Amino acid sequence: MGGPLRLAVLVSGKGSNLAAIVRATEQEGLPATVVVVVSDRAEAAALDWARSRGLHTEVLPPQGLDRPAYAERLQQLLERHRPDLIVLAGFMRILDPGFTERWSGRILNIHPSLLPALTGLHTHRRALEGGLDRHGCTVHFVTGELDGGPPVIQASLAVRPGEDEASLSARVQALEHRIFPEAIGWFAEGRLEMKAGSAWLDGQRLESPVMREAS
Ligand code: GRF
Repeated sequence: MGGPLRLAVLVSGKGSNLAAIVRATEQEGLPATVVVVVSDRAEAAALDWARSRGLHTEVLPPQGLDRPAYAERLQQLLERHRPDLIVLAGFMRILDPGFTERWSGRILNIHPSLLPALTGLHTHRRALEGGLDRHGCTVHFVTGELDGGPPVIQASLAVRPGEDEASLSARVQALEHRIFPEAIGWFAEGRLEMKAGSAWLDGQRLESPVMREAS
């Protein structure tokens, strides 16, 4: 590849995962550089943070575009920045299957649950409502199946008795900030790939994701 891994980071929200990734590149030796931050929402706080750090930002609003048209615009934008890897860091849009196929093996997402449990939205609330003992987050390759691509790494924690959604969300996010840079690092070092519908790490097919357990 030559040089640091070129990352396109797609965001919709506050950008704490983006910040964790940038911190890892600056302070933890993650051999990657963010070449563009793309948001579908002009008001996303992640954009302000990115601009304050001198990162290149782009806004791609969905209004008036169906899913394939949005993907086409995103593709054009990305071609200008030539990322090696697309990082979905709280990007709240479903990507067109043609797009995920085109970038197959080069898109990672962070999802706030221990997949395959709790696909979709409001995972922390649903974990509490369901009385789950353990909850956490997953980094996975993105395919056309929503939250269904091959998982790479998970971090889990014990749900505390009486815990509320805000507390659980904050504790899971702290784990996200550890495992997302870790997975990106493996990819950057050429240790992680997607092959034949599975994630492979150091030449071994991952039968199940790498687990990090917190208390
Ligand atoms: C994260 O919790 C992630 O799991 C979910 O969206 C949230 C984004 O948070 N997909 P942030 O914008 O990185 O702070």
